[in-house]
Formats: sequence, C-alpha cells, structure tokens
Amino acid sequence: MDGFDSESLYEQDRLHVWHPLTQHQDYSHNHPLIITHGLESTVYDINGQSYLDAAAGLWCVNVGYGRQQLIDAALRQMQQLAYYPLTQSHPAAIELATRLASYIPSTPHIYFSNSGSEANETAFKMVRQYWQQQGFPHKTKIISRFRGYHGSTLGALSATGQPERKRNYGPMAPDFMQVSAPYCYRCPFHMQYPSCQIQCAEDFERRIQIEGADTVAAIIVEPIIAGGGVLIPPPGYFSRLAHIAKDYNVKLIVDEVVTGFGRTGSLFGHELYNIKPDIVTMAKGLASGYMPIGATAVSDEIFHTFLGATDSGRHLRQVNTFGGHPVACAAAIANLNIIEEDQLVKQAQSKGEYLKQLLVDQLQNVPWVGDIRVQGLLAGIEIVTEPETKTPASDAFMRLLGRHLIKQGILAGKATDVETWHNNILIIAPPLVIHGDELEQIVTGVAHTIRQVGQAPPIHV
Ligand SMILES: Cc1ncc(COP(=O)(O)O)c(C=O)c1O
Repeated sequence: MDGFDSESLYEQDRLHVWHPLTQHQDYSHNHPLIITHGLESTVYDINGQSYLDAAAGLWCVNVGYGRQQLIDAALRQMQQLAYYPLTQSHPAAIELATRLASYIPSTPHIYFSNSGSEANETAFKMVRQYWQQQGFPHKTKIISRFRGYHGSTLGALSATGQPERKRNYGPMAPDFMQVSAPYCYRCPFHMQYPSCQIQCAEDFERRIQIEGADTVAAIIVEPIIAGGGVLIPPPGYFSRLAHIAKDYNVKLIVDEVVTGFGRTGSLFGHELYNIKPDIVTMAKGLASGYMPIGATAVSDEIFHTFLGATDSGRHLRQVNTFGGHPVACAAAIANLNIIEEDQLVKQAQSKGEYLKQLLVDQLQNVPWVGDIRVQGLLAGIEIVTEPETKTPASDAFMRLLGRHLIKQGILAGKATDVETWHNNILIIAPPLVIHGDELEQIVTGVAHTIRQVGQAPPIHV
C-alpha cells in the first residue's frame, strides 16, 4: 500500500507496541495484521490485502467502516467544541443521554464514561452507594456468572467469570462471586432443558440464600454471554432471574456492552427477554467503535437516592476526564441515526436468520462442530475433537483455525483465555451492514477451514 514502509512498521510494532492477548516471542511467525483502512465490512492491511471482518473489530463496528455521515458529525463537533468535561454540560451529551433514555425509559439517567469496563465499574459503585444510602451498608456483594466477561479493570475483572483472564492478577476485589452459566450444551448440572427447571437461574437464588440477601447488592449478567462462548440462555431463564432479584431485593445490572445496538436482532439484548433491569451498561456499538464511549443507564429509583442537600454527601463521587467526550457523543448520535435510518436492528434479525441457516446447512455435519449457537448477528461455533465426548479443541487447534481463516481473507473472533483448555468457540459477529453473499463467503470459509485444520496431523502452535 502506498505511503507505508511495511518492513519498518512491522519492526517498530515488534519493538514498541504491546498487544493484548498476544505472545510477543512468536512475533516473526505470528505477527498481527497492520490494518490501514476499512469500508463497510471489509478491512485492508498494509500490503493491500483485504479481509472480511467477521468480528466487526472487537464486535463493535456495527454500522461498518467508512461511514461518512458519522465522520462528518465527529469533525463538526471537534470544530465546534473539541472537549469539555461533564462536570459542566454540553449539547452533544444532553442530546445523546436524552436519546438513550428514550430507548430504555426505565433507566433514564445516563452516566458517561469511555469503555465497557468503566461503565460496569460505575454500575458497581452506584449500587453500593445506593444501598448505603438506603440504610443497608452490608449489601455490597456482586454476583455474576462463570464464563461471563465484564471488563479488564480490577473491579470488572473481579466480576468476570473467566479464570484465565484473572490468572496472575490477584488478589481480586472482595465481594465478587460467580454462579453457573446457562450453558445447555455443557450443562453444569448435567441436566436437560426443560426438565432441568432452569437450575442455572435457580443457582442465583441458592447463592443469595447462602450469602444472605442482606449482603448482596446486585447481579450482573450479559443477555448472552458473548466472549465466554456465545451462551444463549434457555427460555424462562431471564424471567426467573428477574423474579429472584426482585424477591431478594437485589439490583439487576444488565451488561449490554456487546449485545447493545442491534447485535442480537433487537436494539438491546435484554429486550429479547422482556425484563426491566435497574441498570444497563453499554459501550462498543454505541459509537460503533468510531470513538471510545461507555454509558451506565440507571433507574429513577436508584437515581433518586442520590438526591439530597448540597453537602449531604449523597452525590456520586466519581469523575472521568473524557467520559461524555463531545466528539464521542456526536459520533454516537450519528451512529444511532444510521442504525435507525438503515433499519440495522431489523437487518441484524433477518441476516441472523440467514447466518443461522447457512451455519446449520454447512457445518452441522462437520465432525469437529459440536454446537452452533446464533442470535441475530452473534454466532458461536463450538469446536470439539469428538462430538460424543464433547472434548474441546485445543488452544493450538483454535489458533491454527484463526490463522487459516486469515489466509482466506476472513477475520473471525474466538473465546480467548477464558478457561484452561476450554477456549474452543469460534465467534462470528460481523458489522450489521454485512451482505448476504459476504455471510456465505464467511460460512463457506469457516466450513472449509475447520475440515482442513481438523484433518491435518496433530499440531503444536
Ligand atoms: C460483555 C462485555 N462487558 C464489558 C466489556 C469491557 O469493555 P471494554 O473493553 O470497552 O472495557 C466487554 C469487552 O469485550 C464485554 O464483552
């Protein structure tokens, strides 16, 4: 590609850029792609090679790359007011908060931050302060689920149910604990739906009873566990969970960082289950990754306990320098306009149906495919060495799969560093603007690659 000296960029990258989830010693044969530009669902690397981005970056570029309307909005905002903190206010934050409140009227108070991790950290602080101010100082515990992911900062990581992500970073923050995930393919209770009577939801009740409801502040859940392997809960799970939270006076935080803004075929994932959370957190698709932004949306009931005399100390004592950055807010507003104008939520639903059909048609008889889980444009393909034993494919197998897909011009996601020897889920979550023929190309490529890697001699990569 013109204007780039690829050799020296690779060398500088090797020397100076510390990449997440990457073993740097392998750089020479396992270096990252250096991506230079993108359009719709395709990105291009420094050598001019194109790739279908079946992972939408990190599952966030919902409106696709190169959207001029969004770029123009960000530029206009930068020209008008490049920065101002939300210790005061500005029109872009006001417009975005009002818009978000109109989408989820039961959580109409919006606190802005810069990422999903921060949005969740904020939610944890809010519920703890809420209970303090309600006169329940011991309600501090946060219950989440194994395989769930809530972020990289230490509070959000403590809520994360992925031991590999926590390894070497302990001790974790106290008062965070996990219960079983809704994982029907590998039911933690060795039962089957519906005769299981949704034990994975009941697990919350058991845990609350063991801990004592007077010590539990909140439950945090993703509508669909995304990075942990696209775990779609069975029917009835969320309504039972919402009942348990209500019965035991525990707040329900729904982490919509991946599932928000159309990903699952509804604007927010929790709409699929007809529940009203106390707090909704969001980030990624809020500005489709064009700018970093996170938000924590809060119910009237929680917000009102923060009201009091100026010196009552009841206000939220947290500030983020860049939270609600005007350019990020302007980008988010333009992003939401595109989602509405292009009817991307509806598109995600119908394209998701097509993706599901393609995956079932082309993968269900591939010997290494144990399970296929799809909701909207979020799909997980569980790779096993034998379907009978459900033995997870190794990390080396999964890495090789990823590399072969890249050779075919397809960037897919995968569960990474979740649990030792249980990272065997390939994840497809493309931009919501992806075309039908591109979905076909992805699924054909995935089917071909799984066969190719599966038939290769045992590998150590
Ligand atoms: C469900 C969920 N919550 C929170 C986060 C953390 O978001 P961020 O990486 O923006 O901090 C992620 C990131 O992947 C996520 O998948």
